[in-house]
Amino acid sequence: MSPVKVGVLGLGTVGCGTLNVLLRNADEIARRAGRGIVVTHASARTLDKERPCDTSTMRLTNQPMEVVNDPEVEIVVELIGGTSLARDLVLQAINDGKHVVTANKALIALHGNEIFNAAQQKGVMVAFEAAVAGGIPVIKAIREGLSGNSINWLAGIINGTSNFILTEMRDKGRDFDSVLAEAQELGYAEADPTFDVEGVDAAHKLTILASIAFGIPLQFEKVYTEGISQITAEDVAYATELGYRIKLLGIAKRTPEGIEQRVHPTLIPHRRLIANVDGVMNSVLVNADAVGSTLYYGAGAGAEPTASAVVADLVDVVRTLTTDPENRVPHLAFQPDAISELPILPIEQITTAYYLRMMALDKVGVLAQIANILSECGISIEALIQKEISGDAEKVPVVMLTHPVQEMQMNQAIERIQALEGIAGAVTRIRLEDLSN
Ligand code: HSE
Repeated sequence: MSPVKVGVLGLGTVGCGTLNVLLRNADEIARRAGRGIVVTHASARTLDKERPCDTSTMRLTNQPMEVVNDPEVEIVVELIGGTSLARDLVLQAINDGKHVVTANKALIALHGNEIFNAAQQKGVMVAFEAAVAGGIPVIKAIREGLSGNSINWLAGIINGTSNFILTEMRDKGRDFDSVLAEAQELGYAEADPTFDVEGVDAAHKLTILASIAFGIPLQFEKVYTEGISQITAEDVAYATELGYRIKLLGIAKRTPEGIEQRVHPTLIPHRRLIANVDGVMNSVLVNADAVGSTLYYGAGAGAEPTASAVVADLVDVVRTLTTDPENRVPHLAFQPDAISELPILPIEQITTAYYLRMMALDKVGVLAQIANILSECGISIEALIQKEISGDAEKVPVVMLTHPVQEMQMNQAIERIQALEGIAGAVTRIRLEDLSN
């Protein structure tokens, strides 16, 4: 059979990684797919540039729509990122009856419902494994490997840049800005690095994971999103003293009232495997009714790890080119007419434990007042650290862990604690997840 002709949009880090993997492993890929896969046409913003990949065998253009409209191209691989031009290109490709592979998490999180609907109508595939956790085949694991289960919750370290920063802060006491600069140099960070450190990139990925876990539409706008930019070196140290690690987690959880979708820094017991996922690595822990907990770990960013997922999607598409469109694996794991409208809970309605840190004046009764407020709000204290006052400082840090409570109750307690005369400044709150069952 003749090879399948592929068009690639974007020859950046992942684009070049994809060309290199396709070339290096061409024989094995053809044996797996049943046909060869060749890139015949590619687009890049700048054409006359040295690249770490061989483009001599393909046509090159700086007009991505030319690749989409090339009648020879059967599969379009979208690797340009962003949501505006990428959406137009992907919808055009679908409209032309072409299959699409994309690594674009923002595109799927924001426009996936529209894109999948168009693909369904046209009977084409849109594959997006590389959009979540780089090279880890977690979408395939949830959508296919766990399809006999009812998923209870999942929690993932799904932004390598944030994890790299938190790890370096903890292990080497490095400052935030220098670690971020290194992540940018290594090609891990987003074009706009605030997407990494403010949790937006993780929220894009969590939106996708929540949909395929629970069979709900993609609802990025309903993800509670908080990044790591407010985490201080002292919070990292206190968490360690209490037996925890701070990680930026994306959490999706089924509750009787609805679905929790949230991204925020989280304390995790240090003995959990996922608490030991360090550096740029990603990991997703999925808890499901039949299998229990399963953990997926690997490189979440970088040229070839991401290319690994892109090429696997290409192989999937090539394998199904001849099969019945009605019987393909559904985009969001559940059949389009079986997507459910479970409510997504606002952050005030989620339930979790908390780490609280506050600066208290070293006066009689302040601790009693704090304990009193927490008790009146129905919040039980799990652990407490009060440091000795150092030198002639007037304030002492009080750090505590609470048992799980609804966020709404915690908001009321924090507001009342901050209003106490004996408390200086804002109370730092980091949510804590036990992740045991
Ligand atoms: N900026 C992302 C990260 C790249 O740091 O994880 C992979 O999506």
